[in-house]
Amino acid sequence: MASHKRIDEVTGAETTGHVWDGDLTELNKPLPRWWLYTFYACIVWAFGYWIVYPAWPTFNGYTKGWFGYSQRDQVAKDAAAAKAAQDKYRTAIAAMPIAEVKKNPELFEFARDGGAAIFGDNCAPCHGRGAQGAVGYPNLNDDDWLWGGDLESIETTITHGARSGDPKTHDTAMPRFGLDKILEPAQINDVANYVRSLSHLDVDAAAASRGSAIFADNCAACHGADAKGNTEIGAPNLTDAIWLYGNSQQAVVHSIETGRGGMMPAWGGRLDPVSIKMVTLYVHSLGGGKPEPKKEEGESEHKDEPHEAPK
Ligand code: HEC
Ligand code: HEC
Repeated sequence: MASHKRIDEVTGAETTGHVWDGDLTELNKPLPRWWLYTFYACIVWAFGYWIVYPAWPTFNGYTKGWFGYSQRDQVAKDAAAAKAAQDKYRTAIAAMPIAEVKKNPELFEFARDGGAAIFGDNCAPCHGRGAQGAVGYPNLNDDDWLWGGDLESIETTITHGARSGDPKTHDTAMPRFGLDKILEPAQINDVANYVRSLSHLDVDAAAASRGSAIFADNCAACHGADAKGNTEIGAPNLTDAIWLYGNSQQAVVHSIETGRGGMMPAWGGRLDPVSIKMVTLYVHSLGGGKPEPKKEEGESEHKDEPHEAPK
């Protein structure tokens, strides 16, 4: 060990006294203080951490630490807190008629968001992620409804389904005019032309005019004399541009031949009533939801005509 300080001539810094190859000297450059203290502090921190937090594996588990902290417990606690918060909302929703839930902004937001998740899990395979539908599976975004678009009607359809076998399901279906030989193929062709003419598609005009009488005799009872449909029996409006099964001559002929008979499962046994309310509110909020029917019913056929507002 050097007994006195050696100073490097070039830098003026102290050297360690180590020399290589005769003239390479090693400068004495200790670690900066701040670095060293940080290093010590980390060691102290590590000991502290080992003591209060779980740290070391042992033969039958691990050291639990003073605090007994566990991420698993924490997650369980958070989940329990979230569930308690949800239960509060769900209990409130269970106790209210669905139209009241709609009027309560906080409950409605909770229900709609939860309903969107329920929809994604249960309904999207048939109706599509965005509820846009597909051939045979109705679009739930538009305001064209087979079975009615107010909250109560939607809730009923979801609970009991359509032609689902549920005791309270919507059960009416269109006759199989072709398969059951109710109409001749030529008549089906004519009435299909007539139906297509109602939404201004290109048709054989002579066939369409023959089809008009066939429609009045065989179809108007369900679809209405004006062909605007009837939500009591799930008969679609045939005058709009919305087609469940396609609007080509071939597709319309096929609908008339077979009656289609689309099947919507009943969810009453699979989803609890609160979940059904939630998914109903979600579907209703998609844009096509209709207001609750007013007291004065039966006005719907004349909704385009101005009428005196009751004083
Ligand atoms: C297996 C396929 C399938 C699944 C799953 C399904 N649906 Fe449907 N849904 C249908 C079909 C098909 C119809 C049309 C029934 C008809 O032709 O009358 C329909 C009709 C409806 C209607 C009536 C639409 C109208 O115009 O009146 C609503 C509302 C509806 N579904 C909501 C839902 C909700 C909510 C879920 C999930 C909880 C769901 N559906 C799951 C096939 C399905
Ligand atoms: C007993 C009632 C009933 C009668 C009668 C009836 N329909 Fe229908 N029709 C329905 C129902 C219900 C549907 C919906 C079927 C479904 O959702 O799967 C439908 C669907 C249709 C569709 C499919 C519409 C689309 O959007 O794709 C066409 C086309 C149609 N009917 C034409 C006719 C014609 C033409 C006649 C007469 C020859 C007729 N219907 C008689 C009840 C009826």
